[in-house]
Amino acid sequence: MCWSSLKKKRQEFIHLPFFKFLQNRSIDLKKRASGIPFWAHFVMSFKDLNAYVLREEPTTDPIQVMINQHTYEDASHWVWYVKDLDVLGIDYSLRFTDALRFLWSEETQRARQLSYDLLRLCASQTEPVLRLVIVEAIEATGTTALSEGLVQLSQELQELTHKRSLYFSDHHLRVETGHIQAGLENGDEEQFFGSIQLTDAQRIKAFELVETVFEYFTRFYDGLLAYSQKHYLDCPFPKGYGVPQSEAEFAHSEIAGDLDSLYLEPQLLAQQPAGRK
Ligand SMILES: [Fe+2]
Ligand SMILES: [Fe+2]
Repeated sequence: MCWSSLKKKRQEFIHLPFFKFLQNRSIDLKKRASGIPFWAHFVMSFKDLNAYVLREEPTTDPIQVMINQHTYEDASHWVWYVKDLDVLGIDYSLRFTDALRFLWSEETQRARQLSYDLLRLCASQTEPVLRLVIVEAIEATGTTALSEGLVQLSQELQELTHKRSLYFSDHHLRVETGHIQAGLENGDEEQFFGSIQLTDAQRIKAFELVETVFEYFTRFYDGLLAYSQKHYLDCPFPKGYGVPQSEAEFAHSEIAGDLDSLYLEPQLLAQQPAGRK
C-alpha cells in the first residue's frame, strides 16, 4: 500500500513547532494548554465526518465494512473532549452569540479549515481502498500528536488540577493504535496493509492523499500554535483575555451595528438621529 510513505511523513511531522512548544516545560503550562478550546469545531466535525461521510451502510465491500466499524469508534471520541472541557474548568458561561462568534472567528479559522478540508477530501474519494488510505493518514497524525506532546500536556494538567482528562491523554493513545480500528490485532496491521493490492493509478493517488492529509494537519497545528501563543488557559477565549479584536471581528461588529437599525420598528427608526439610521 503506501506504508513507507506514511512512516516517512510521520517522521517529518514530529518536528512541527507546535509539538516542540508543548514539550517545552520552560513555557508556562497554562499557555501551552490554552489552545484546548481551539479544537472544538474540528473535534465535533470529526464526529460527523465519521458518521455521515466515511460510513456507508449497507455495504458488501470488505474494506468499507472495516471503515464502517472504525467510524463507530472514532465518532464517539468527542464525548471525551466535551467532558475534558468540563473537568479542566474550561466551561465558562458564554452568551450563545459569543460562542458562535468564537467558533467562527478568525482566530479559530484553521480548526474549521481542517474540518472542511477533510470532509471534502473524504467525500471526493468513493473507492473504499482510497478512503482507507485517508483514514490511515488521519490516524497517523493523531497518534503522533498524542505521543509527541498532547499526552505529556494532559499529564502535567493532571498534576496541576488533580483531575484526569481523556481526549488528550494516554487513554486516547491506547484506544488509537495508529491504524484503523476494525478488529485487527496489534501487529497484524503491517501484514494486512501489505496484502492490499493497488493499481498504479491507485498507488499514485494514495501517495497524494497521504501528502494532503499531513499538509492539512500541519496547517491546523501551526494555527493552534499561533492561537496558544496569544492566550492563557485561565481566560482562553479571545474576549476574556483582552486580545485586540481581529480585523474580521471589527468588521463583524460593524455589520452587527448596522443591523441594529434593521431591527427597529419603522416608526422608531424615523425618530433616530440622522447619523444612526
Ligand atoms: Fe480519537
Ligand atoms: Fe481515531
